[in-house]
Amino acid sequence: MNKVRAHTNIALIKYWGKADTLLRLPLMSSLSMTLDAFYTETSIEATDGPDQFYLNGSLQDDRTAKRVFKYLNLLKQNYGKIDNLLVKSDNHVPTAAGLASSSSAFAAMAAAFDSYYQLNLSKRDLSIWARQGSGSASRSIFGGFSIWQKGHDSASSYAYPIDENPQMDLHLLAIELNVKKKKLSSTQGMLQAKSSPFFQTWLDRNEQEISQMQDAISNNDFTKLGELAELNANEMHAINLSAQPGFTYFEPNTLKAINIVHELRSEGIECYYTLDAGPNLKILCQLRNVKFIKNRFESVFDNVNIIDASFGPGITYLD
Ligand code: ADP
Ligand code: DP6
Ligand code: CO
Repeated sequence: MNKVRAHTNIALIKYWGKADTLLRLPLMSSLSMTLDAFYTETSIEATDGPDQFYLNGSLQDDRTAKRVFKYLNLLKQNYGKIDNLLVKSDNHVPTAAGLASSSSAFAAMAAAFDSYYQLNLSKRDLSIWARQGSGSASRSIFGGFSIWQKGHDSASSYAYPIDENPQMDLHLLAIELNVKKKKLSSTQGMLQAKSSPFFQTWLDRNEQEISQMQDAISNNDFTKLGELAELNANEMHAINLSAQPGFTYFEPNTLKAINIVHELRSEGIECYYTLDAGPNLKILCQLRNVKFIKNRFESVFDNVNIIDASFGPGITYLD
């Protein structure tokens, strides 16, 4: 067996815009936190039958499996492999709901291919391959905080760890407001976002935002980290609203949840939010406030699932 686990990561400074669609080269660098609570486990082996992709125990039809096999064909071509493949993957994260399933999925997929064929790829090469499955997956090769440097071609566009075992007191509460599959994938959303009149400003700010976030991390400055992450997420979602045609991943409950964050802050409870291509808000806070903040969201949203996450590891080989 060659099962591999990869954890999801949430970008604090986000990737939202591609320079090259096929290679998934980004227009900006991004910086993320790998999470302990959400992950994907994937195994790959050769089969005498046709290519098959099982997700969470069910065989996926050709349409759903297309992205996976298109991706695996790239790897097969590059490493001279001709086998048909049986791929089994289990998501311990909602799929395609803005909770970064594609980040753990393609990090696990690249590592499972490497493991099955005993290619002994470096972490850097794994990151480059993971990136070609889903950009955000480049960062899930590593634990803790990592940066995906945009680079200028495929060989220079990879992630590297800045601190794989951070001592920072940082929790991320994922408020699962709606975990149904989103209508607009991240791939489509970021393509459409390029038509915003603010898109160039978004790009112009990237270098500064990355370096400010790096400073916040190295100074162990939770306040700065939270403020920068919230601003960056708001910029990304403002670009979506102002695209032509405009769109948004926000739902009514997303705004309601954002207002709770404002309310908590005005009460002196320090917390910030970030959110990705989906309606589910993520709250950044410190351990001492986790319970209080969780209680507040639970009192406003009936039966809401809230996952308390902190730093997770990079890829791990299970057996
Ligand atoms: P998310 O916010 O969950 O990352 P995306 O739109 O970026 O949403 O990506 C979702 C897509 O990623 C799915 O539609 C599917 O194609 C792919 N995906 C998710 N989980 C897996 C998995 N375990 N194995 C292979 N592909 C996956
Ligand atoms: C908002 O990595 O899912 O989560 O490369 O097209 O697969 P593709 O997109 P994906 O986009 C992630 C966008 C984001 C921000 C981020 O994770 O940096
Ligand atoms: Co994604």
